[in-house]
Amino acid sequence: MEFLKLGNTGEKVPVIGMGTWKLRQDGISALRTGISLGSNFIDTAEMYQTEKFVAEILKEGRDNVFLATKVSPHHLRYDDVIKACNSSLNTLGIKTIDLYQIHWPNPSIPISETVRAMEKLVSEGKIRHIGVSNFSVKELKEAQEAMKSEEIVSNQIEYSVTERDPESSGMSAYCLSEKITVIAYSPLGSGSILSSNNKKIHEKLNAIGSEYGKSAAQVALNWIISKGNIVAIPKANSPDHMKENIAASGWKLKPEDISEINSFL
Ligand SMILES: NC(=O)c1ccc[n+]([C@@H]2O[C@H](COP(=O)([O-])OP(=O)(O)OC[C@H]3O[C@@H](n4cnc5c(N)ncnc54)[C@H](OP(=O)(O)O)[C@@H]3O)[C@@H](O)[C@H]2O)c1
Repeated sequence: MEFLKLGNTGEKVPVIGMGTWKLRQDGISALRTGISLGSNFIDTAEMYQTEKFVAEILKEGRDNVFLATKVSPHHLRYDDVIKACNSSLNTLGIKTIDLYQIHWPNPSIPISETVRAMEKLVSEGKIRHIGVSNFSVKELKEAQEAMKSEEIVSNQIEYSVTERDPESSGMSAYCLSEKITVIAYSPLGSGSILSSNNKKIHEKLNAIGSEYGKSAAQVALNWIISKGNIVAIPKANSPDHMKENIAASGWKLKPEDISEINSFL
């Protein structure tokens, strides 16, 4: 597994992490597989109701996991952030969240109020790093400007072979210049790029993968992490899918194959 620096911190995170949206209880064993193969980054959210499954993994060894969770957009008032964090800590059964992310911006609540609560949580040792999710460049800049003692280390956004908004919006370039890690969610298009809905793209990914002895999923994930400054967080309920996804790291697509995938859309 390859690792990269999280934001401007000294923290190292694996380039392939593990998502948990819609993870079922029987998916806990897939998380175990991921950890055993060198991925220690688990992403959850109060909204997903999967913190309770992640708690099972944390019980088996808190130090094995870099734990990221999220506060919901309707909980962004100062007191609500504190309450939501305490509730997540309780459900997860831990004392500190490694990365606490604002799940979605909420235009009706000033970002300065939300980040004040997040910074308070850092000062109390309840969270270690602050991230955002689904923020535009403008919203990210506003959040950065509102911070007093901490920095935004990551923006979790949808990014895949078929979802290229981070490129066209300038988000990828902005995050690179600001040393903010992009956490790519739905990196397999929630499974759609491997389905008959995207037959052409699936076939092209398979054809590229055949040169390397890799699957379409592995090519799609390797293409994302080849951009640098990006962690992809595929979700896999099945341990076999997890194994396959972890093996998307540790090799490199040739520049001509990266260019070909760039031009898919
Ligand atoms: N911040 C946000 O607003 C936001 C929004 C959406 C998602 N996320 C995060 O991003 C994570 C990933 O996104 P996602 O869950 O939408 O979708 P995804 O990771 O793009 O795709 C997951 C789907 O692909 C299947 N799959 C996984 N690996 C596979 C493989 N190697 N071969 C074939 N199929 C494979 C999974 O099946 P099985 O499960 O059956 O193995 C599942 O159906 C989420 O779990 C969540 O943590 C964040």
